[in-house]
Parts: sequence; structure tokens; C-alpha cells
Amino acid sequence: MEYNIDLKPYNTFGLNCKAKEFLRLRTEEDLDLLQSEYGKQTILFLGFGANVVFVDNEFGGLVAKLENKGIDVKEEDKNFCSVEVEAGQTWDDFVDWACERGLSGVENLAGIPSSVGAAPVQNIGAYGMEVKDSITYVVVFDLKENKFITIKNEECNFAYRNSIFKYQEGNLLIWKVGFCLSKNFTPNINYKALEEKIKKENIVSLTPKLIAQKVREIRNEKLPNFKVLGNVGSFFKNPVIEKHQYELLKKDYKDIVAFDSGEKKKISAAWLIEQCGYKGKRIGNIGMHDRQALVMVNYGGASGEDVLHLAHQIQKNVKEKFNIDLNIEAHII
Ligand code: EPU
Repeated sequence: MEYNIDLKPYNTFGLNCKAKEFLRLRTEEDLDLLQSEYGKQTILFLGFGANVVFVDNEFGGLVAKLENKGIDVKEEDKNFCSVEVEAGQTWDDFVDWACERGLSGVENLAGIPSSVGAAPVQNIGAYGMEVKDSITYVVVFDLKENKFITIKNEECNFAYRNSIFKYQEGNLLIWKVGFCLSKNFTPNINYKALEEKIKKENIVSLTPKLIAQKVREIRNEKLPNFKVLGNVGSFFKNPVIEKHQYELLKKDYKDIVAFDSGEKKKISAAWLIEQCGYKGKRIGNIGMHDRQALVMVNYGGASGEDVLHLAHQIQKNVKEKFNIDLNIEAHII
């Protein structure tokens, strides 16, 4: 156990916060100590720290940081490869591992700052792919029952940036994730920005590795590097609204950016925020990125209060202008 640990290096937003207690989880033996703390104090599981917003200067409980690493091939045949990956593994290293072997299923998710264990929580998705489509199961350690449980994909209730792991009581620690990767590669290039890039560069022979490279290039063109400008990726979710509300909005805003989402319409939150004048706008130490209006950036020294103030201002303006509720995607602590 470590005490009074500065969490700034452990959150990509670069917010100042101190953890009263801090525990690194590397092996199953480390879970004994964690389990003995369960019920005594609030426990926060921390992966890469790429989706957390520490609004207070102090976290009064225990931060348990996942540092278990490893990729284990469980089974393979000529079509598929089943792997089990430890939760503390860096997501992008796993993507590289798969792409190097010509395995597909996660290549469009290249470059996402995350740990493998955090990936199922919000069902990370980008460039036309969601992690739910390659996950087969999630192994959790149940602190309440003091045992491991395997949760099958169908039981995870995966949806757009959502899963059962968002609504648990804090007793389920994701320890390993099982994936099924394919050896029969069919490129997924339906996402407009990716399709355009591949056409423009005249790429004919695609591989998972090449897709991952192109996705990283697109990300680098518009998303800020958290090492330079602190951020948590998309700050809000793209709102999903009824079709009739969309039709009404379309009359007033011809260029509104929207995508089909079942019977409903998913509206680009970046577009909504941009229309309200926040793209590239800076208020003190905080602002919305100048190349992607959905990404809140910390210019250095921003406080949790600054973050929430700007977030609420944007939510209010979007509601007034479009009558749409923007929900925060990041995990507010
Ligand atoms: N757009 C604007 N203004 C902007 C940026 C975008 O109007 O400042 C419009 C453009 O028309 C653009 C469209 O919005 O074509 C979509 O933009 P983008 O491709 O950047 O995607 P997004 O919907 O803003 C989502 C995910 C990202 C993911 C990208 C790519 C959410 C909340 N965000 O963003 O995920 O990388 O798609 O697939 O769904 C994250 O979750 O942290 C994240 C970065």
C-alpha cells in the first residue's frame, strides 16, 4: 500500500488529485489486500486513466491501479485465434500484437488511450468498430464474494459507450478479457474519414496493420496528444434522438450531422458544440479543442471546477439552441 499519491501522472486529463491510499495490482496475490479493504472504504479501479475526471483535489478512498500484464493464446485454428489479455495491458500494445500477427477485430481501435480492462466498461469504439464485437468474455474478481467470475459477452449488455460494468456496486474488478480475433481479414472501412483516406492514398492491398496505421494517422490529425494537451477524448456522448425531432431540426439546420441509429438518429455532439461557438474556445485553463469540438482540453493547471463549469455551460447552450441533452461520456469522480 502507498499513501498520499499524486494522481496527476495517472490521468490523461492531467488534473491534480491526491489519493489517500494507492495499491498496484500486478498478480492475483495482490487481490487479497484489496479484498480485505472492500466495504471499509471507497475503492476506485484505475486503468490507463484516460476516461476519468478528478473533480476534487483529494480522493479520500483507495485507488487500485491495474498493472497486470500479459497476452495468452488460448486456442486457435485456421480461422480464429482466442486470446485472453490481462486488464492492465495497454490497449494499443494489444492492438499492435494482433496486427503484427495478421489477426483482425481490433485494428480500427488503434491509438485509443486505454487499458484492456477499461475497454469493455464503456465499450470503446472508433472508426466503425466497437470492442464488443471481438470480446467473448470478461473475467472479473468479485470483491463481495471473493472469487473470480466469467461473464459472457451476451451478459455484458454492451451498447453504445455502455455496459453492465458502468452500473455495478464497485465490487466487480475486471481482471482479464477474452477476445476472438479472425484470421480471415475483411477490411472495415465504412467510416467516412477512413474510407476517404484509403481512396485518396490509392491503397489497394489492405492488412490489419495498415488499417491501424491509417487510423492512427487520422487520430493524430485531429485529436490532441494527451502528453501535450491533457484530455479524455470525447467529453460527451453523441446524443441519440427521435427521428421526428431530427426532421424538425433538419428544417432549420440543413447541414446538421447525423447518423442512423436503429429507429433513431445519432447526432454529432461535436457539430452541436461547434454551432454553439465552442470549437477552439478557451476559458482560462480549459477549452474545447480547435480541431475536434467534442474534446475538452486542459491547457495546464485546470481544476475540476473549471471542467464542470465549462461542461455545464455547453450543456445549457446546446439545450437552449437545439433542445438536446448532452450527456457526459467521461467518468466524473
Ligand atoms: N464534426 C464537427 N465538428 C468537429 C468535429 C466533427 O462538426 O469539431 C462533425 C463532422 O461532420 C465529422 C463528424 O462530426 O465528420 C464526426 O466526427 P468524428 O469522426 O471526429 O467522430 P465523433 O462522432 O466526434 C466519435 C467517438 C470518438 C471516435 C470517433 C471516430 C463518441 C463520443 N466519440 O467521435 O471516440 O474516435 O467517433 O470513430 O462516440 C472517445 O470516445 O473518447 C472518442 C475519441
